Formats: sequence, structure tokens, C-alpha cells
Amino acid sequence: MKKLTVLAGLAAAACLMAGPASAEKIKIGVVLPYSGGAAEFGEQIDRGMNLFLSQNADAFGGHEIELIKRDSKRPGGDIAKNAVQELITRERVKLLTGFVFSPNAMASAPLVTQGKVPMVIMNAGTAWIPSLSPYIARVSFTMWHSGYPMGDYAFNTLGCKTAAIGFTDYPPGKDSRDAFTTGFEKAGGKVLEALPMGGPREVPDFTPFFQRVKNAAPDCFYVFVPAGNHSVAVVKTYTSLGMGDAGMKLIGPGDITQDTKLQDMPKEAAGMITAHHYSADYQTPTNQAFVKAWKDAYGADTTPDFMGVAGYDGMAAIAHAIKAQNGEITAEGTMEALAGWTFDSPRGSITIDPETRDIVHDANIHKVVLKDDRLGIEVIGTIPQVKDPCKANAIGKCK
Ligand code: PHB
Repeated sequence: MKKLTVLAGLAAAACLMAGPASAEKIKIGVVLPYSGGAAEFGEQIDRGMNLFLSQNADAFGGHEIELIKRDSKRPGGDIAKNAVQELITRERVKLLTGFVFSPNAMASAPLVTQGKVPMVIMNAGTAWIPSLSPYIARVSFTMWHSGYPMGDYAFNTLGCKTAAIGFTDYPPGKDSRDAFTTGFEKAGGKVLEALPMGGPREVPDFTPFFQRVKNAAPDCFYVFVPAGNHSVAVVKTYTSLGMGDAGMKLIGPGDITQDTKLQDMPKEAAGMITAHHYSADYQTPTNQAFVKAWKDAYGADTTPDFMGVAGYDGMAAIAHAIKAQNGEITAEGTMEALAGWTFDSPRGSITIDPETRDIVHDANIHKVVLKDDRLGIEVIGTIPQVKDPCKANAIGKCK
């Protein structure tokens, strides 16, 4: 198992010797997929965390941290839960982070409460996860940050009166379905059908699902899949069935136009509209500096995506919590430090909402554009500083 020790800076070293509080390394358990089909997500988040660490050695207030990494492998919950158990009881970590897949965060939530070891979620997007434990905070997104505004945009701006939905059949897929349906129907649209399209592990053959949607002929086709190779297969199937030519607009959360997958998609992806909070193509000085640093560190042919930026931001949040407590980490102290924490992220300004412990950030409307034979993202709309709409509107399990 991998261990990484980070000494937080030279200036910090003096501080480290100054008091007994800082003498012990602060252990942080990292639970991510490091093998199997989702290993690329683990690598993205690792790279984001490491970039923050390499640029911000002094952000930990002179305290030394140790990242103890465990491979969650699959989205099923059991492996991640065992890892969390071991990290809490044997390694005695003070914080847990990572968590790409919602079922892994959900299965671990009771242990977080019993062990009083806070969890900083770097991806898992099902809206109601933080309600499972008072010691969960999230730096990534919820499925409602993207799905709900996309519903409104589809009706009011794209002019779609009807829509069909295809979703990967597990908690964030159902959540994304509900988010889009709520936003779309509130605006006046009608959802013709919502199709579950298999689980998150294997990329399914989407053809039978998409053919059924084509027969129903909706104006918009909203799809959620958990990014990665699933999203490439979605765009390929949509293209090969000629659904665009038949007048159906492919839309979704930005998970289906992930920066790292855009160049694997057919050029017909140009014109797709998604809602999300990050793209490597954002033209802000903070993001341009971030992307340059990423390419300098990991290679010109690499790019950060929404998972990479969550690794970066998550490590910034953890550094803040450690520094704020001067290394004397308690669950209550960590949650207090995270409540209201604000950061100038590459995605724009972010805050952890003190009431819900969830992220507040801009929700952007993305258009896929083709420029110089390269697919990229253009921001064509922004809803500033969105609190999770599921909790803000007290819907379903978010009540
Ligand atoms: C999740 O399991 O919550 C999840 C995974 C991948 C995504 C979004 C959400 O792209």
C-alpha cells in the first residue's frame, strides 16, 4: 500500500519543532480507485492533490502530513468500507478523503460517524450524502448543481418541449434524473421516458436504449453516465444512430463532456450542451495558471478535469482545517474549520455552505466547440454561486 509523507515547507519546519502538537505526522486516509476501469479517476484526483501540495508547502501551518492510500477498486461500497474501517482503527487517520463513487461514500458514512473521523468528498455526487453523517463535507459537486439548471436551460433556451432521459442505474444516476426532471418540468417541459441503462462498472452497449429514445423522438435527450469511457460510448452511439440529424439534442451534466475524454469523441460532439462547474478551457487567469502548472508537472499531453480540480481543492480544504486547528485535529474542530471555508479555485470562487456542508460554486452552461480540429468547451452561461438545489428546495431525501 502506498504511503506518502509530505513535510509542509521549510519555514514550517521551525514551527514543527516549536511545539509537541506538530511533532506527530497527521495521517490522512485517501480512498480512491487505483486499479480497474476507474483507475484514471484515481490518478486525476491524486494529481490534483499532489499539485496543491507541491505549490503550497506552507499551507499546513508547519504540520507534517502523511497520505495513506487505499484502492477502492469498484463502486460497490464493500471494498471502500473495509478500507475505511482499517484506516480508522489501525492507521488511526484523522481525516478521510477521496471517494469517487457515491456507494463507496454512503457505505463508509456510518464508520465516519462512529469513529468521528471527518470525510472530505472529492467526487461522489449524490446530493443527500452529507446528511448521512455530521462529519461529511464535500468539495466536488452534487448532481443537482448540473441537472437542475440544465432542465431549465433545455426548456427556456434550447426550446425543448419534450425530453427523454438515459441514466446509469445507481444513486447519482437516479439523482441526476430527478434533478433534470424537476428543473425541466418546473419550466414547463414534459419528460417522455427515463431509461436506466445498466450499472456503473462495465460500459454497456447503449444502442438498444438510444434506439428506443430515437423512436420516441424527444426534442432533447439528457444523459448521465459516470464520465470516463462511458461518456465516449454515449457520444459515439448518439452519432452512429444519427440522433442529431433526426433533431434530438444531446445534453447532460458535464460528466459526459469530461476534458480528458473530449478528444476521444467523434467531431459530431461539437454543439453538445452540458452544465458543469469546471473545464480546463476556462479562460480565467487562475485556471490558466493551474492548467499550465498541471502540464508542466504531468506532461503537455495531459489535462486536468473536474476530478483533478476537486483533488486540488480538497487538499486546499484539508490544509486549511489542519492549519486552523494548529495540528490538534478533532472531528468538531475540522467541521468547524470547513464550515464557510472559501477558496479561489481554478473553477472560480468556492465555499463550503456551513448549513449543509456542501459546496457552493458557479454552475456554467458548456457548449462543445470544434476549433483547429480540437474539441473544446466554451462557457455560454453562468448561474453564480449555486447552493445544492436539492437541499435548497428540500426535495425527496434532501428534506
Ligand atoms: C458518483 O458515483 O457519485 C459519480 C461518479 C462519477 C461521476 C459522477 C458521480 O462522473
